[in-house]
Amino acid sequence: MAIIAPSILSANFAALAADIEDVDRAGADWIHIDVMDGRFVPNLTFGPPVISAVRSATKLTFDVHLMIEKPELSIPSYIAAGADRITVHAEACVHLHRVVHMIKEAGLPAGVALNPATPLSAIEHVLEDLDLVLIMTVNPGFGGQKFITSSLEKLRTLRAMLKQRGLDHVHVQVDGGINAETAPLVVEAGANVLVAGNAVFTHQDRAAAIAALR
Ligand code: DX5
Ligand code: ZN
Repeated sequence: MAIIAPSILSANFAALAADIEDVDRAGADWIHIDVMDGRFVPNLTFGPPVISAVRSATKLTFDVHLMIEKPELSIPSYIAAGADRITVHAEACVHLHRVVHMIKEAGLPAGVALNPATPLSAIEHVLEDLDLVLIMTVNPGFGGQKFITSSLEKLRTLRAMLKQRGLDHVHVQVDGGINAETAPLVVEAGANVLVAGNAVFTHQDRAAAIAALR
């Protein structure tokens, strides 16, 4: 059964805590928090103050996706704000091995995200250290974009790599353009954590929207 992680990027920013409580009640497993700095990606969202403001709205896992440059400079602030797991972009880290271990030494599961054009080889020397690999299925920055179908082959190759190394426990997460049509495709290709923004938050009935992804 896939883990469903609604992305609050598509939630109502004027009532963020209420929307988080709503998807919690609706059966979400994790809350996916898309942090954007307007430099690594062309959009700017929120940082630690907003995360700590909504932390008490739910006990669900805060799955923080850092789409920011030099994440090593602010990881402690995201942890203090209430992150339960942190994912950084391989493309944003000159010293990826060091950043992954910074997250793990702070006691949090560490994830690495790859943009659509970034090859899996970018993570082959840290794979053993990871709890999660995030395969971006759109170019990061905005919700509501079209799913990139070449991600399916990348997912299959990643799953095979993990199996071959006895790393089946590593989560394979997808993010971008995930909806009732694309969800079965990515799960069949090896994803077990589905991030969905528009496919959840644009629907009145969030429980039905989440159920449609499972
Ligand atoms: C990066 C963001 C988005 C968001 C999901 O752009 O990470 O992918 O979470 O967006 P939807 O599910 O609306 O495509
Ligand atoms: Zn994300």
